[in-house]
Amino acid sequence: MLMKNALPTPSFLVDLDKLEQNIREMGELCKANGKELWPMVKTHKSSQIAKMQGQAGAQGYLVGTIDEAEMLVEQGFKELMFAYPVTASENIARVRELAKKAHVIVSFDGVEGAKLCNEMFALADLKVDYLITIDCGLHRLGVQPEKAAVLAQELKKLSHLQLKGIASHPGHVYGASNLDEVKKVAAEEIKALGVAKEVLVKEGFAVEIIATGSTPTAPLAAQDKNITALRPGNYVFYDVLQMAMGVVPEERCSLTVLATVISHTREDLYIMDAGSKCFGLDKGAHGISLAQGFGMVKGHPELIVEGLSEEVGKLKVTGPTSLKVGDKVEVIPNHACSSANMTNYLLGCRNDVVEEVIYVDARGGSYRKPPVL
Ligand SMILES: Cc1ncc(COP(=O)(O)O)c(C=O)c1O
Repeated sequence: MLMKNALPTPSFLVDLDKLEQNIREMGELCKANGKELWPMVKTHKSSQIAKMQGQAGAQGYLVGTIDEAEMLVEQGFKELMFAYPVTASENIARVRELAKKAHVIVSFDGVEGAKLCNEMFALADLKVDYLITIDCGLHRLGVQPEKAAVLAQELKKLSHLQLKGIASHPGHVYGASNLDEVKKVAAEEIKALGVAKEVLVKEGFAVEIIATGSTPTAPLAAQDKNITALRPGNYVFYDVLQMAMGVVPEERCSLTVLATVISHTREDLYIMDAGSKCFGLDKGAHGISLAQGFGMVKGHPELIVEGLSEEVGKLKVTGPTSLKVGDKVEVIPNHACSSANMTNYLLGCRNDVVEEVIYVDARGGSYRKPPVL
């Protein structure tokens, strides 16, 4: 039996009880509200965790990269949505191969990319489903909701594409500093999709899928009558940013990095053997910085992860501490999705025992073979 504390450091740990609870509860939320669940794979990039999500009711998966999609299809998953437009012909060719083996739904927010896809799908005589991406306030991808039908009219001319519905992502929720602000973003998300649906229906388009998602807004979006599918990602792990917004308490965070204290040369400073190559330098992807430091040391409220070099991190002491060189600490990352992308595998632990290896098998470059030169 391998005990957690006997692991070399740094090690990436996932608490299996928490992971299972997080996955189960999102499945239950969707089921209770009659929504489909299409979790975003970019958080974990792991076919093992995707399988767990499937067992908890996920109907399909949202992918951020073609690497993720190729891994899922190779593992036998059959229902995929692409979060972002694919516009390079080399990449469209990969999506086309996938569309021969699985049900693939692509997304567009403009005519140019759609035309390129249409041409390439025509060469294989494929008709591929798509969603129109709606900007619900993040101002990244997406058409304005009231313009959805204008784009749909243009895309209707493309005979190898089939409109299925609309999608959005309220990523600006990561600028929220409390649940009231999360609520406001969820209201924008719901409103934008409602407006887009209305203009499309008015022009005679069928809107079968209304998909949206973010972990913080999921419980609110689940209650909307228009939305048909939720696409959250981060909820499998949660992290310090979710805690800072009030989405979950610390007990729900399943991903941690185990590190060893390697130096203590100043009274108010310890150094651990995990740095930005374990945590990333994320303090919040899209908005204001809410987290104090670069992670949270479990069981040590007197420590702040004050700074990160690549391989080591600074732990600032703000109160009495029993910490000494050689001790191990477990640190919850600020942004779990970035952290999980730093390793080939996570070690699944139950209580203090290491139970299984969970491969992060769909990272860019870890799944896809290099090009033939
Ligand atoms: C398009 C899209 N949908 C869904 C998600 C999932 O959001 P979250 O990780 O907050 O659950 C993301 C995250 O980047 C996204 O880009």
